[in-house]
Amino acid sequence: MQNSVNIVFLTSGKSRGSNFEAVMQHLSKFDLPIKVPFLIITRDDAPIQYRAEKFGIECIRLKNRDTFEEDLLALLEEYDIDLIVLAGFMRKLSEHFLQSFSGDIINIHPALLPKYGGKGMYGMRVHEKVFLKGDEESGVTVHYVNDDYDAGPIIAQRKIPIGHCSSAEEIAHEVLQIEHILYPEVIEKLARDFLQSHK
Ligand code: GRF
Repeated sequence: MQNSVNIVFLTSGKSRGSNFEAVMQHLSKFDLPIKVPFLIITRDDAPIQYRAEKFGIECIRLKNRDTFEEDLLALLEEYDIDLIVLAGFMRKLSEHFLQSFSGDIINIHPALLPKYGGKGMYGMRVHEKVFLKGDEESGVTVHYVNDDYDAGPIIAQRKIPIGHCSSAEEIAHEVLQIEHILYPEVIEKLARDFLQSHK
């Protein structure tokens, strides 16, 4: 029997960490046995570290790209991790990694997948494409991670109207507000389901 759900956040580059903070703030409202023993960064100047400090969460920097997955797998096993939350993680995880980790891996994408997803579609590039296309709505998708970019089964999606936005930056701003609502809700639900099924 397992009495907690153990979650880690996986980030890369100069990760901002706004989703991490929104999730942590949301989870702190409930008396749920959720542990976040550490989060992963790849650069020592990643701003997410300052947010992690506020929650007393250790940042582990995996700097060797060649052994990244091996090193991560060792940590996941050591801390008995059940759920990996990608939050600004730009790399693709290998098939070997996905098969080796027995828990779930989820990601948040700032658009309505399957539109505006795939290799190279991240950050402002997504919102610029949406803006240029003149779409009336955009949104957020949370999905399981598989071995293809942004292509795993969709867990939840939320749409917002963006017809009034006059720039890609404005769209990004509005979409981010929804990310900060949807990701926490999904993670809370997955944690509750996990705890229920491991009673
Ligand atoms: C978010 O926009 C998310 O959709 C994408 O990466 C960004 C991370 O932002 N996957 P933050 O680090 O959570 O602020």
